[in-house]
Formats: sequence, C-alpha cells, structure tokens
Amino acid sequence: MDYVIETRGLTKKYGEKIAVNQVFAHVKKGDIYGLIGKNGAGKTTLMKLILGLALPNAGEMRLFGNSYLDAGRKKIGSLIEAPALFKNESAFENMKRFSYLAPTSDDEIKRLLDFVGIGNTGNKKVGSFSLGMKQRLGIAIALLGNPELLILDEPINGLDPAGIKEVRDLIVDLNHKGITFMISSHILDELGKIATTYGIVNDGVLEEISAEDLRNNCRSALKIVVGDAVKATAAITANFPDAEFTVSDNMIEITSEVKDASVINKALVKADVAVYEIVNEKVEFEDYFIARLGK
Ligand SMILES: Nc1ncnc2c1ncn2[C@@H]1O[C@H](COP(=O)(O)OP(=O)(O)OP(=O)(O)O)[C@@H](O)[C@H]1O
Ligand SMILES: [Mg+2]
Repeated sequence: MDYVIETRGLTKKYGEKIAVNQVFAHVKKGDIYGLIGKNGAGKTTLMKLILGLALPNAGEMRLFGNSYLDAGRKKIGSLIEAPALFKNESAFENMKRFSYLAPTSDDEIKRLLDFVGIGNTGNKKVGSFSLGMKQRLGIAIALLGNPELLILDEPINGLDPAGIKEVRDLIVDLNHKGITFMISSHILDELGKIATTYGIVNDGVLEEISAEDLRNNCRSALKIVVGDAVKATAAITANFPDAEFTVSDNMIEITSEVKDASVINKALVKADVAVYEIVNEKVEFEDYFIARLGK
C-alpha cells in the first residue's frame, strides 16, 4: 500500500536526548491521524522531520509513495506551534503575506477565509481576534496552495470548549472534502476523538492503533458476583445465547454486548440465583491512553 506518509526507523537526537526514536509511521489517504502524547513526547519533532524543518539522524521516509520528498512536501500544508501572525493586519492581509509561497488570487483567499468561517471579519485586526479565530486563520494559511495533507500541531491548544468544537468540526468537514490530516494533541482533549488512526508517542517511541481496534480494546465488561455460579451460567446461556463470558469462582464476567445490567439481574433472580454485586467495568478511552503514556 502507498501511504501519504510512511517513515521507516526515523530517528532524531538532540545531543544525548532521543526526541524521535526509530519511528515507523503510516498515514493513509483520508486518515485523520492523531498523534497523541504528553509534553516532550516528540510530537512536534516528528512533524518537523516530516516537513523538512528538522533533519533526521537516521531512518527514511516516503511522502505520497515517493522518496523524492520535495515534491511531496509541496502537497502539504502545515501549522506548527502557534501561527506567526501579523497582529496589526486583517485576516485578508495576513493571507496575502503568506501566499507568497503559493501565489493565490484575492478571490481564492476570500473563499478560504469563508471556508474556515472568518470571511466576515473585514478590516478587523488579527490582534483583536479570539484564539479560535486565530487558529482558523492559521488553518486557512495552511490551506494556501490546495494541500492534500494538513499537518497541524496542537491546533486546539488553549481554546475554550466552543473553540475546540469549532476547530474539530472544521477538520472533520475538510476531511470529508478529501484532505488527509495529521494532528497532534494532548491525551485528554476532545480532538483525539475524531481520529481514524492513533499514533501514541511516548518518549520518542510511536505505537500505532486504528480507531476501530481501539474501540474494541475499550469494550466494557459486566462483572457479576453470584451465590451459585453453575446455576448462573445456565441462566445466562438460556436467556442470552450469544453472551460471551468467563467464570472464576463466584464471579462471572460478561465481555460481549449484553450491556444492560438490570436485564441480566432480572434473569438471574428469576432463575433463583442470588446476585451480590454487579459492576459495569468500563475500560475508558482515556484510561487506555493513560496506561500507554505513563503518568
Ligand atoms: N531544538 C531542540 N533542541 C534540543 N532539544 C529539543 C529541541 N526540540 C525538542 N527537543 C527535545 O526533544 C524532546 C521532544 O520534544 P517535542 O517538542 O518534539 O515534544 P512534543 O511532544 O511536541 O511536546 P509538547 O507537547 O510540549 O509540544 C523534548 O525532550 C525536547 O526537550
Ligand atoms: Mg509540541
């Protein structure tokens, strides 16, 4: 398979510090690839390596299936750390300045500003924009030159919940229009939830998992402590033939999709099984990351 981004053993050291350690990353066309990791994990450094803003010590990569990276990088728009905006100028004037890299007509600039939802800001100076508006402008700048891939470093950093929703919706919208994304994010924010693939970065090391596999890993389990496990398993099998469960001593753990504790409780009581405890043990999305990211 050809990937939009594929790295093999990519490594970056700063002195003794290995910021990016033997990374094999795979971003598919159409992905929203969420790079998740705590401060100093190596997210920004990995993005800089991909963009050619930092040079690797080892490893190689292909962009759009091609090892000639300059051509691939022309198809990438990016926003790394906070966008360096001209505060005393309007959104349009800022766009004009940044379009020197990708000459763009005034009409196209207006279209992009409309597209990210700040087309109505007129002569308003960027210095008086909200953080969410600045972030939208940063994304509009990243969209100059019609990129196929956007690399956004912590695009919701510092935004309030409404701003987070705005940027998240914008990313989903652009993704539906065909743009592939690599976005970095801290573990507990809302952005993580829109990813189709996760790259979990921990101390420079990357572990990839698809959103689907992650959901399966995060499935809940119903733990039931009963008086008579033999009678209980018979009742569960009779009432819920598709239920998957394990039994140890007087504890039955149902791992399949029989979620409603009250329905199971009723069936057990009807079968004259004493039920001492029912706990719905959910392995939450965030717990999964915490377990992998350390404290
Ligand atoms: N230019 C640099 N010189 C020296 N060390 C650096 C440099 N850039 C990054 N590092 C180090 O490399 C490691 C990874 O940093 P990086 O900025 O990539 O992490 P990050 O995941 O983006 O963190 P954050 O969430 O804080 O943005 C850190 O230990 C950092 O101190
Ligand atoms: Mg960073």
